Amino acid sequence: MGKNKLRRFAEMKNFPNVFEPTALESLSENFALRGLWRTDFFKEPQKMVLELGCGKGEYTLGLAEKYPLHAFVGMDIKGARIWRGAKTAVEKGQKNVAFVRSRIEFLTRFFAPAEIDEIWVTFADPQPKRPLKRLTSPRFLDLYRQILKPEGIVHLKTDSALLYEYSLEIAQQENLPIFYASADLYATTENLPTHLQEIWNIKTHYENLFAGKGYSIKYLCFGLSPKAKV
Ligand SMILES: C[S@@+](CC[C@H](N)C(=O)[O-])C[C@H]1O[C@@H](n2cnc3c(N)ncnc32)[C@H](O)[C@@H]1O
Repeated sequence: MGKNKLRRFAEMKNFPNVFEPTALESLSENFALRGLWRTDFFKEPQKMVLELGCGKGEYTLGLAEKYPLHAFVGMDIKGARIWRGAKTAVEKGQKNVAFVRSRIEFLTRFFAPAEIDEIWVTFADPQPKRPLKRLTSPRFLDLYRQILKPEGIVHLKTDSALLYEYSLEIAQQENLPIFYASADLYATTENLPTHLQEIWNIKTHYENLFAGKGYSIKYLCFGLSPKAKV
């Protein structure tokens, strides 16, 4: 490992906004803030929002700036990426931001049932050959359901037609409410939901990369409580 990376990892240990759960915490329910994020870390935020695979955290930071009364937690396995977002948050004094360095698969060890209002899945790997690893596969949706409020929302932003169409299909198969879907978000000008208008200019690192290469950005927003059968 390079010297720079080692220095950053050491620095990150002292950041107040980064949590690097131990193996034991990832396998048990001993993580100290589980169920207590709102009261013991944040200041009773109106909403708790999670970004999965947040990378360097640009999106988490952008949303946190836009909505100072909400709390945002970015989760990623890569320490060097989280270091960037966490350091910026410390420098800017953004108190409504935290980062958890862990695999998304352990999510339910760090958040309690109904602790989260919204989940963002941003530019996740479409896993063309391994559908079970897609972050919108039924297995992952079941994990999200365990921490999301019943009326909670999942947002997916992606450049991948495969991941977008797959996610839409899974939501339909599971009879989930789909609040908004666009295969070309930035070409859409009519009937945009208010929340999208508010965050129109906030973009992730990969979003900027892909949009710059001419890819259309796809967006899907859905709930996890199946609709009542009529
Ligand atoms: C393509 S990058 C997208 C980063 C950021 N969301 C963006 O749009 O700029 C995907 C990120 O997801 C993270 N990731 C992928 N699978 C993960 C997993 N199972 N648990 C935690 N992080 C994961 C990777 O480390 C990487 O930073």
